[in-house]
Amino acid sequence: MPSSVIAGIGMYVPANVVTNNDLTRYMETSDEWIQERTGIKERRYAHRTQETTTTMAVEASKIAIERAGLTVQDIDFIVFATLSPDYYFPGCGVLLQRAMGMRQIGALDVRNQCSGFVYALSIADQFIKTGMYKNILVVGSEKHSFGLDFSTRGRNVSVIFGDGAGAVVLQPTEEDGRGILSTHLHSDGADAEILAMYNPGTHANHWKEEKYASFDEAEIGQMFFSHAMIDDAQVFPFMDGPAVFKTAVVKFPEVIMEALNTNGLTPQDLKMLIPHQANLRISQFVQQKLKLCDDQVYNNIQQYGNTTAASVPIALCEAWEQGRIQKGDLVCLAAFGSGFTWASALMRW
Ligand code: ACO
Repeated sequence: MPSSVIAGIGMYVPANVVTNNDLTRYMETSDEWIQERTGIKERRYAHRTQETTTTMAVEASKIAIERAGLTVQDIDFIVFATLSPDYYFPGCGVLLQRAMGMRQIGALDVRNQCSGFVYALSIADQFIKTGMYKNILVVGSEKHSFGLDFSTRGRNVSVIFGDGAGAVVLQPTEEDGRGILSTHLHSDGADAEILAMYNPGTHANHWKEEKYASFDEAEIGQMFFSHAMIDDAQVFPFMDGPAVFKTAVVKFPEVIMEALNTNGLTPQDLKMLIPHQANLRISQFVQQKLKLCDDQVYNNIQQYGNTTAASVPIALCEAWEQGRIQKGDLVCLAAFGSGFTWASALMRW
């Protein structure tokens, strides 16, 4: 059975840099608070009308495809991870297929938030191993800046997130010991609501209120989006930050060790850990716990904030561009986020 290698990688971040000080225009916060609690100094926001989750993905994908020595016509499957799609439906996969002028290939959308890219990579890995596809484009892209509460009410969430995209082309290899060694996917929905965007959705929490009992079908239709949702800020992401933090610092080391143990390896064998850029404090905690040195962990949350499904491929791309990952190096990708879902992928570059 062949294993899968990353044959090309690309990233794109919008030109518009938004500093912590810029955010103080909209909400009560400070550069000091944000840097101390998260490590973030600045993030990028997409151009309001010219850039979307899909257009950023296209830019990252063009680079990945070119670096793989391919053309768009060679791509035979798309896996697209995002929590901020252009439309509620259809997903971004088909929009990417259209925008890049690809053949009528399959396009799959992954809704796994921060672990979305690692899940997407694992899916692509299975298709490569079975021989079903030869050149799979795996994308993580987010345009958070369009869906955040920029008032003081939403500051615990809004200061964290940024926009951007990353993409890889996955291909089979027969080279012994190279490529993705294993992937590990987990979820626990017990705390689904502590990091979530509830609306629009079909959860019908409104129906618990008696006043809606007599509503007819037409009125029910309007419940999908209501003025009250907007007035009560229920259309923005909600996060119990401290609770997420506590679980993240347990699950990150667990899923990294699971990948290493499965392959009979130790943290010392790692050339590079690429953690999802959730919070610099989380990455530092994981580094300490696994006794990794600074050179073994890549962080760029300082420049880009948390770009959710895009954060792992953006960090991987930068580390590779800087020459910090070379052929034969052991690289671990790990992510944790909303769901909760968490995942890792161990590969020999
Ligand atoms: N600026 C200033 N003050 C703030 C801000 C802000 N941006 N945000 C919150 N505060 C205040 C709070 O109101 C609170 O004030 P109070 O003590 O007067 O009530 C105080 O700061 C402390 O708030 P906490 O929420 O307890 O702050 P904490 O130290 O936990 O940091 C943070 C918040 C950064 C969100 C942290 O909890 C975190 O990083 N959690 C994990 C986030 C994460 O990993 N998410 C997963 C990925 S996202 C995804 O999957 C979509």
